[in-house]
Amino acid sequence: MTMPTPQCPWRMQVHHIHQETPDVWTLSLLCHDYYPYRAGQYALVSIRNSADTLRAYTLSSTPGVSEYITITVRRLENGAGSQWLTREVKRGDYLWLSDAQGEFTCDNQASDKLLLLAAGCGVTPVMSMRRWLAKYRPQTDVQVIFSVRSPQDVIFADEWQRYPVTLVAEQNATAGFVPGRLTPELLRAVPDLAERTVMTCGPAPYMEQVEDAVKSLGVTRFFKEKFFTPVAEAATSGLKFTRLQPARTFYAPVGSTLLEALESNKVPVNAACRAGVCGCCKTQIISGQYSVNSTMTLTPQEIADGFVLACSCHPESDLVLA
Ligand code: FES
Repeated sequence: MTMPTPQCPWRMQVHHIHQETPDVWTLSLLCHDYYPYRAGQYALVSIRNSADTLRAYTLSSTPGVSEYITITVRRLENGAGSQWLTREVKRGDYLWLSDAQGEFTCDNQASDKLLLLAAGCGVTPVMSMRRWLAKYRPQTDVQVIFSVRSPQDVIFADEWQRYPVTLVAEQNATAGFVPGRLTPELLRAVPDLAERTVMTCGPAPYMEQVEDAVKSLGVTRFFKEKFFTPVAEAATSGLKFTRLQPARTFYAPVGSTLLEALESNKVPVNAACRAGVCGCCKTQIISGQYSVNSTMTLTPQEIADGFVLACSCHPESDLVLA
């Protein structure tokens, strides 16, 4: 079986698949070579082993601890990647993964007091780091608060019994769950909160709320996983985008990336890494001012022709798109 794209050079075989919750599955993969990664990182997966559909998933396993490389996937109704991974892929199949990517990791944190805050599927890098800390920094004081919709949505439910964790359930809270959502009171109850390094992963509105709350309580070392990018509401003013094919006009606030402008207006665009690495979001600009912070996958000719990586493109005026 040949490599579908140079971006995904790692062939891995599905060893087994475990259902975590009604809509989340963990795929355990065997890599016959040594696959370097750090706790909390993610990889791109080639969907249907194709070159043009890549999706990013956290590596929920832990280097030096887990027997397999694992990805943990929530099935989304219209998710090309998650539908394939959770419905069609079976034991023995092969997947192709990219190198591990991302900076959301705890192995560079010198702090001996951590607070890890997760919501929903955002728990995947948190569990990866939690295991890593238990093995390599057992003296670290680690507090975890994990928010879920309801008790049945606790991903890695068995494994959490090994680690101290506060579980918060928005609905149907049973014994062992704090009912409702993460509140400033719950945060205030964390010992030595202001001294802790706080790391969070979850839906964008959750992370924003967490950031405001912990900073107002004195936290100065705060990190969030940027991988879960918000899809904002479509704007009605700001920078104007004129798309020629098919013809369409839309707006986005000044300061948005081109990818955010496209996604918030439901203009079809592929995005996997959101970090200028995978090349999925290539888009051509006909006219207008913009700056870019990655052109990694583009050829000099493409750059000359106005192609950009939408996730790494910062519009500075109204733009006309091909
Ligand atoms: S989404 Fe990967 S380069 Fe833009």
